[in-house]
Amino acid sequence: MIECTHVYKRYKSGTNALYDINMKVEQGEFVYIIGPTGSGKSTLIKLLDGEEAPTKGDVKVVGINVGKLKAGQIPIYRRNIGVVFQDYRLLPTKTVFENISYALEVINMRKAQVKKRTNEVMEVVSLIDKGNSFPKELSGGQQQRVAIARAIANRPKVLIADEPTGNLDPGKSDEIMDLLEKINDAYGTTILMVTHDLTLVNKHRKRTIVLEHGHIVADLPEGGYVRHDQ
Ligand SMILES: Nc1ncnc2c1ncn2[C@@H]1O[C@H](COP(=O)(O)OP(=O)(O)O)[C@@H](O)[C@H]1O
Ligand SMILES: [Mg+2]
Repeated sequence: MIECTHVYKRYKSGTNALYDINMKVEQGEFVYIIGPTGSGKSTLIKLLDGEEAPTKGDVKVVGINVGKLKAGQIPIYRRNIGVVFQDYRLLPTKTVFENISYALEVINMRKAQVKKRTNEVMEVVSLIDKGNSFPKELSGGQQQRVAIARAIANRPKVLIADEPTGNLDPGKSDEIMDLLEKINDAYGTTILMVTHDLTLVNKHRKRTIVLEHGHIVADLPEGGYVRHDQ
């Protein structure tokens, strides 16, 4: 479902952000990417969503060689994936319902289907009563749930999340984890989640890939305990 082979990323500034990344994530897996600030976690996400291209190597997602796509092909490719960020990135002038339905309208889904699907994902994230609210009227945890609803509305095979709990307190972070686990179970969505919250990682244990200075230094199977020096 996700496969990186001998992937390097060097930014124009000269920074080497990733070195010889090799990883394979199967359909339905839920995998954490952890590592200190600057270790290359967000760069890896950007290679996966096509925001950046690798300097060397292949990044394949749902069988598509993402790094080889032309700029014009990226929006079409992105229909296969859902992406969630730390800062939610909701449209402030649109309601909850509109934030979600807009993502479906732009991919030309039929109007009746858009309404049905939007209501369905609002139910999944337990925000069915917030459809007419604007983002600023919601708590951080609720806003992130809207962002997750929008990301899964098109039923992507892969959901990637860059520090989705980064702005949330531990209780709300747990709610987000429960929701991501529910989505992983219910739809078999492959989930790759970047986090630096080791408390969360040790509570909701999953396969964990550890990045350091742009290298994968460990790939821990589900069930292991991640020490705080990792
Ligand atoms: N657009 C960019 N241009 C130049 N350097 C960048 C850019 N984005 C990230 N970097 C550098 O690449 C390295 C990895 O950054 P990043 O992937 O954001 O790490 P993380 O998400 O683990 O904190 C850092 O040294 C960072 O300064
Ligand atoms: Mg980052």
